[in-house]
Amino acid sequence: MGEPLFMDKAAFGKQLEEETEWIERNIKGFLPKDVTLQKTIYKAMEYSIMAGGKRLRPMFMWEAYKMSGGNDENVILPFMAAIEMIHTYSLVHDDLPAMDNDEYRRGMKTTHIVYGEDMGILAGDALLNYAFETALSCFNDGTDTVLKSKALKVLANKSGIYGMLGGQVVDVEKTGETLSKEELDFIYSLKTGALIEAAFMAGAVLAGADSNIVAAFEKAGHCIGMAFQIQDDILDITSTQEELGKPVHSDERNEKSTYVAVYGMDNALKAVKEYSEQALGILSNMPVQNSYLNTLARMLINRKK
Ligand code: IPE
Ligand code: IPE
Ligand code: MG
Ligand code: MG
Ligand code: MG
Repeated sequence: MGEPLFMDKAAFGKQLEEETEWIERNIKGFLPKDVTLQKTIYKAMEYSIMAGGKRLRPMFMWEAYKMSGGNDENVILPFMAAIEMIHTYSLVHDDLPAMDNDEYRRGMKTTHIVYGEDMGILAGDALLNYAFETALSCFNDGTDTVLKSKALKVLANKSGIYGMLGGQVVDVEKTGETLSKEELDFIYSLKTGALIEAAFMAGAVLAGADSNIVAAFEKAGHCIGMAFQIQDDILDITSTQEELGKPVHSDERNEKSTYVAVYGMDNALKAVKEYSEQALGILSNMPVQNSYLNTLARMLINRKK
């Protein structure tokens, strides 16, 4: 009998907690150590990345790596830390006064509030740069270079103008405007979808998965990313700062044309479900089943933070 499609709640909760803790420990281990006069930047980097967070992108990467037959932690761990550094940099910059101007993130004051706007900008830059220094450390063991190079390309591409950064550009530029479906999908698919796609793809690539499997993971990542951003918009309206760890009504204050604003709450809730089911359909058609990942994707439909 094959692996069941989903895990029971208790076993899933236990694994989620253990994996999150394991990922966090490893991220910490990759942070820079030998700092002297520039130590403020180290503190600001550590502050923002160790503040908590769900660690979903490294988790997706790890799960895709295992599903694709990968078993070398020396290879995958630097990439898992790197993607969380890139994600954290995107959050630090997203919160800056020139962007969403938010004062809380992950239940704490935002990096620019604690360290000043100058250090906020530099901490974001530092995390982005250090992400690639960290990922590049996978070459230290002298094993295969082809797959690692391919995974680096995925990471770079999905973070930049064809990925997260490109989505943020249009998000910022179109602030205050009512968006067409194409524009809204473009923004969500890039600003949030791209890094989730990168997580799945890099995991699969590093394990040597065939290109059709990598493409399927990209599609699943896209669907999870769309659902994730629409749910983020819903929570911006329905949650509390206490539960979310970041301010609510930030989108309204910033005149963001979100999925909820354009299509209404009921349609937004429906879209989260539909995108998630589409992702689950793709994952359940993979040659190897991963009940933990399926349960995680299903749980995210009703996530509260
Ligand atoms: C927040 O991402 C930004 C979006 C892409 C919506 P997460 O909700 O994954 O943030 P953390 O990492 O858990 O803080
Ligand atoms: C940002 O979207 C996505 C990023 C690439 C950082 P939001 O601006 O909605 O994210 P939050 O709500 O501040 O986390
Ligand atoms: Mg934003
Ligand atoms: Mg924001
Ligand atoms: Mg948001």
